[in-house]
Amino acid sequence: MGRLPRAVSITVCFALLLGVAACRNASAETTASAESRAGAPARGQPDAASANAALMVQEGRRIFRFDTFGDEAFWTGVLRLHEPLSQVSPRTALAVGLKVDVDALPRKVVAALKAGRVDLDDPAVTLALLEADAVLGVKGVVEGGALRSIGLTCALCHSTVDDSLAPGVGRRLDGWANQDLNVGAIVGLSPNLEAIADLLSKGGTPVDVATVKVVLGSWGPGMYDAELNLDAKGLRPDGKAAATRIPPAFGLAGVNLHTWTGWGSVPYWNAYVAVTQMRGIGTFFDPRLDDAARFPVAAATGLADVRPGPGQEDLVTPKLGALHLYQLSLRSPPAPAGSFDPGAAASGKALFAGKARCATCHVAPLFTEPGWALHTAAEMAIDDFQAQRSPDGRYRTAPLRGLWTHMKRGFYHDGRFGTLAEVVDHYDRNGIGNGGVPLGLDAGEKAALAEYLKSL
Ligand code: HEC
Ligand code: HEC
Repeated sequence: MGRLPRAVSITVCFALLLGVAACRNASAETTASAESRAGAPARGQPDAASANAALMVQEGRRIFRFDTFGDEAFWTGVLRLHEPLSQVSPRTALAVGLKVDVDALPRKVVAALKAGRVDLDDPAVTLALLEADAVLGVKGVVEGGALRSIGLTCALCHSTVDDSLAPGVGRRLDGWANQDLNVGAIVGLSPNLEAIADLLSKGGTPVDVATVKVVLGSWGPGMYDAELNLDAKGLRPDGKAAATRIPPAFGLAGVNLHTWTGWGSVPYWNAYVAVTQMRGIGTFFDPRLDDAARFPVAAATGLADVRPGPGQEDLVTPKLGALHLYQLSLRSPPAPAGSFDPGAAASGKALFAGKARCATCHVAPLFTEPGWALHTAAEMAIDDFQAQRSPDGRYRTAPLRGLWTHMKRGFYHDGRFGTLAEVVDHYDRNGIGNGGVPLGLDAGEKAALAEYLKSL
C-alpha cells in the first residue's frame, strides 16, 4: 500500500534538494504526522526515515567523491605530490589509472576530446581537468595557473568510469574498484619519499628511500597496502608484493566484516582509512594497534589513538554516518547479458550450493557468512602472511556479488589466482569446505562453477 506515492514524494524531495531545508521541512512534517498515526507515514508523504535516508545518501555521495578530510596536510604539505602532478600530462595521468569524469567537463572540452583536438601531452590540460574537479578522487586547488595543493578522496581507489567517451574518460561508477590505478607509481612521484622512509623507520628497523621505492614499485595497478604504515612489512618473505587488491565498495549492505582480513565494520574501516591512510584530520581509536610486536610502526606513532591536533576540528567523525549509508546503498551491478553462459551458470549454481560446498561459506545472497565470517589460512589452504597482519589473523569470506567488475588483477586478497578456473581448481584439489577431501569435480563441473561466478 502507498508504495508508488511514497516513491514519488521522495523524488519531489530530491527535486527540492537545492534547498536541503525544503526536505528537512518535509521530514519534520512527516515526523509529526507519523507520530500522530502511530508510525505509519502519511499517504503521499515520505516517512521521516526515507527522507532522512535520502539526505544522508546525497551527503554520503558528496563525501565519498569529494571530501579530503583535510588530508592535503599530508599529500601536499608532507609528500608535496602537487609538484610532480602539475608536470604530468593527461596521457601519463590516464596511464597510471587516474579516471576522468565526463560529466564534470565543460561541453567545449567534451567536444574537443571527441574531435581529438585536446593535446594529451600538455600538462596544462591536466591542471584544467583538476580545476574542473574532473579527476576522480583527486581534489586540486589551482590558482593563477599553478597547482597549489592536492588532496585525495575515497573515489580515487573505489570508483572508476564507464569509458563512454574514451578509455579512462566517462561517467562515474561509484563503488567499483579502480583496477587500473597504480597507487605505488603515483606516490612514488613524491619529491619527499624521505618522509615515508622516516615514518617506516619508527618501527625500529631503519628503512631507506631506495627500499621505499622498491616497495611502491612492487604494488602495480589495482593494488595498495593499507597496513604498510602499521608494520613496515614492505614485501612478503618470498619477495613478492605485500599489497592487496583494491576491493569494490558496493554490495556491502548486510555484510558484517570488511577488508580481506576482516578488520571490522564499514564505519570502522572508513575511519581507519580516512585517518591512518589518507591522513585526514580526525579521530581513530583501536587499542589493538598498540602492539609493538605485531604493529611496530603503529605502536611507535600512536595510531591506536589518533586525535585532531590542538585547535583542529575533527573532519572525519561527523561524516561517518552519511558515508556509511551511502556505501550500503551502492548495489552490486548485475552481470551484463552476454558476459556469461546462462545454461552453464545454472548448472554452476546447483554445484555451488551442492557438491562443491561453496555455499557453506559463501551464503547467498550475501555470499559471505552472516556472523563472524573469518577463516584460518590453513582452512583456505594458503599462507597466512596477510592474515597475520590483521588483528584476528584470518581471511574473510569474500562477498562474490559483482565479481565480474574486478577480475583484472586476479583473485583472492593478493590476486594469486590469475583465473576463476585456478580458483575452482584450488578448492577442488584441497577439499576446502569438505574437510580436506578433494571435491572430485570434473572439467565440465569446474567450468560451470566458473561461469556461475561470472554471473553473480
Ligand atoms: C589508496 C587506495 C584507497 C583509498 C583512497 C581508499 N581505499 Fe578503501 N580499500 C583499499 C584497499 C586496498 C582495501 C583492502 C584493504 C585490506 O583488506 O587490507 C580497501 C578496503 C575498503 C573497504 C572494505 C571493503 C570490503 O568489504 O572488502 C571499504 C568499505 C573501503 N575500503 C572504504 C573506503 C572509504 C570510505 C574510503 C575513503 C574514506 C577509502 N576506502 C579510501 C584502498 C583504498
Ligand atoms: C571455508 C570457507 C569457504 C568455502 C567453503 C569457499 N570459500 Fe571462497 N572464499 C573464502 C575466503 C575466506 C575467501 C577469501 C580468500 C582470500 O582473500 O585470500 C574466498 C574467496 C573466494 C573467491 C575470490 C573472490 C575475490 O574477490 O577474489 C572466489 C571466486 C571464491 N571464494 C569462490 C568459491 C567457490 C567457487 C567455492 C566452492 C568451490 C568456495 N569459494 C568455497 C571462503 C570459502
